[in-house]
Amino acid sequence: MNNIPRHIAVIMDGNGRWAKQRNLPRSAGHRKGVEALRDVVKKASDLSVEVLTVFAFSTENWKRPTEEVGFLMNLLREYIRKELDELHQNNVKIVTIGNLSTLQPGLQEDISAAIKKTKQNSGLIFNIALNYGGKDEIARAVTKMLKEENIEDLSTVDKIQKAMEKYLDTYGLPEPDLLIRTSGEMRISNFLIWQLAYAEFYFTDTLWPDFNGQELVKAIDQYNNRSRRFGGL
Ligand code: IPE
Ligand code: IPE
Ligand code: MG
Repeated sequence: MNNIPRHIAVIMDGNGRWAKQRNLPRSAGHRKGVEALRDVVKKASDLSVEVLTVFAFSTENWKRPTEEVGFLMNLLREYIRKELDELHQNNVKIVTIGNLSTLQPGLQEDISAAIKKTKQNSGLIFNIALNYGGKDEIARAVTKMLKEENIEDLSTVDKIQKAMEKYLDTYGLPEPDLLIRTSGEMRISNFLIWQLAYAEFYFTDTLWPDFNGQELVKAIDQYNNRSRRFGGL
């Protein structure tokens, strides 16, 4: 493979439809989705991708039935607990974006522990977007920026744009080069609305539970046939 994107962002969609096709409860789709995630993280790490950001739970997903929200939160906690040792052994560094402050304290603690344990790792940065919404992130960034910056330092649009980057949850990470969305939906659903400014988009009909490392390679192959101009010639 000639060119590996530094940062790949993924909207893992289609778990419910995968389950429905099999007359299974939606939860079965989410469980299978975790297996897909495991495979994709392994592949991204093997390919030396720098950052893999996955959309695990959006600020809009709270609209789902309480049981499904609870199931997803528990599944995430279980995933982190089960996978942490192996991720750590593979030199993966876990980070998160999104507003974690309103999550269950137990989940927050498990996430903090995972971040702390893998902090020094130099391999794949595995970025989990949790209770994440692009509009929420930008609004939190603006709030923080106005609190912490001197108004004179924000006197031009360029300065504001530069300062904003510092307050986004993704501060320090390169912007995504490639966005993958599974399940045939062609929208970004409030994911990384600032950071995707120049990402290449890859949409596949494959439902997330059927996605895997091989599918990731297919997406990267297609990415390699794109011509990125960033507004230039
Ligand atoms: C993605 O699958 C998982 C999350 C949003 C947490 P969905 O649950 O959205 O599955 P569909 O879109 O209903 O098939
Ligand atoms: C986006 O999927 C959120 C995640 C994958 C976590 P959704 O299934 O929530 O998106 P919409 O509602 O179809 O746009
Ligand atoms: Mg969906």
